[in-house]
Amino acid sequence: MSKSGIKVFAPASVANVAVGFDILGFALEKPGDEIIIRDGREPGLVITEITGAGGKLPYNIQKNTAGYAAYRLLEHIGETKRPLEMEIHKKMPFGSGLGSSAASAAGGVFAVSEFLRTGLSKYDLLKFAVEGEQIADGDFHADNVGPSLLGGMILIRDNKTLDIKKLHIPHGIYVAVIYPHLEILTRESRGILKTEVKFNDVILQQGNLAAFVAAMYTSDYGLISRSLQDVLVEPQRAHLIPHFFEMKEAAMSAGALGFSISGAGPSMFALCDNSIKAEAVIEKAIKLYADKKLTINTYLSKINHEGAIRY
Ligand code: HSE
Repeated sequence: MSKSGIKVFAPASVANVAVGFDILGFALEKPGDEIIIRDGREPGLVITEITGAGGKLPYNIQKNTAGYAAYRLLEHIGETKRPLEMEIHKKMPFGSGLGSSAASAAGGVFAVSEFLRTGLSKYDLLKFAVEGEQIADGDFHADNVGPSLLGGMILIRDNKTLDIKKLHIPHGIYVAVIYPHLEILTRESRGILKTEVKFNDVILQQGNLAAFVAAMYTSDYGLISRSLQDVLVEPQRAHLIPHFFEMKEAAMSAGALGFSISGAGPSMFALCDNSIKAEAVIEKAIKLYADKKLTINTYLSKINHEGAIRY
């Protein structure tokens, strides 16, 4: 990296969190993406290097989630002709349900903002990051980008206006993430969802979401556990993930507070009230998927409160 450049890290995230489809997500400590920004030679923003993407990501700014998010910011501040170079180093898998495109978008916009010392807050940048992620996803929702940029667990009252709230996280919460090596494209995973749901299921889900938020503020682990139940989306997507219900049973028997699909899948997450239980979930996952001869990655993490950082 040249002396004039800066490097940022934007973390992976778990969206939906069982009870908040498109409106709830939290950041992980790892994995995540690295973005480097430095002065360029030609007018405008150029992507000069992409690693870790297996040639799958476009260098065209208008088609790249990190590039487009940064470009929307540059438009906003009237600097689209500023010579800038961007490097994108993907350190996490695509189509994994861990907010890979969101991490790139959050990192891209944050890196440019830091480099140019725009003075804009992370919240000010959120809109541009969501617009960047929308290129990959098709829809405008901040349940991955919000946590990746701002850190913590983000509740979105309204995606259109980005009316968001960072929630309180009780002491001791750990997350076990299990990523089976298959790719599920978010667009496709969204495409299978029914557009109409049963009224009674909406009532149940509302109760679970409201109780989950209340439980987070009161550190009521019993209520967190009773609330973490997705009656709307998990039943429609679980079949996409090999051995999902077996893994869920294993996680709950290892003491997890709750277990569900991370974002659009295939990753799964278990929320636990301490690291020992999260480790136990990971041990069970390693054994279960080894028996099935399927390759997985696992991540043990606290909830990351910082989101995108310069480092
Ligand atoms: N809420 C989104 C979904 C997350 O589950 O489709 C992935 O973008």
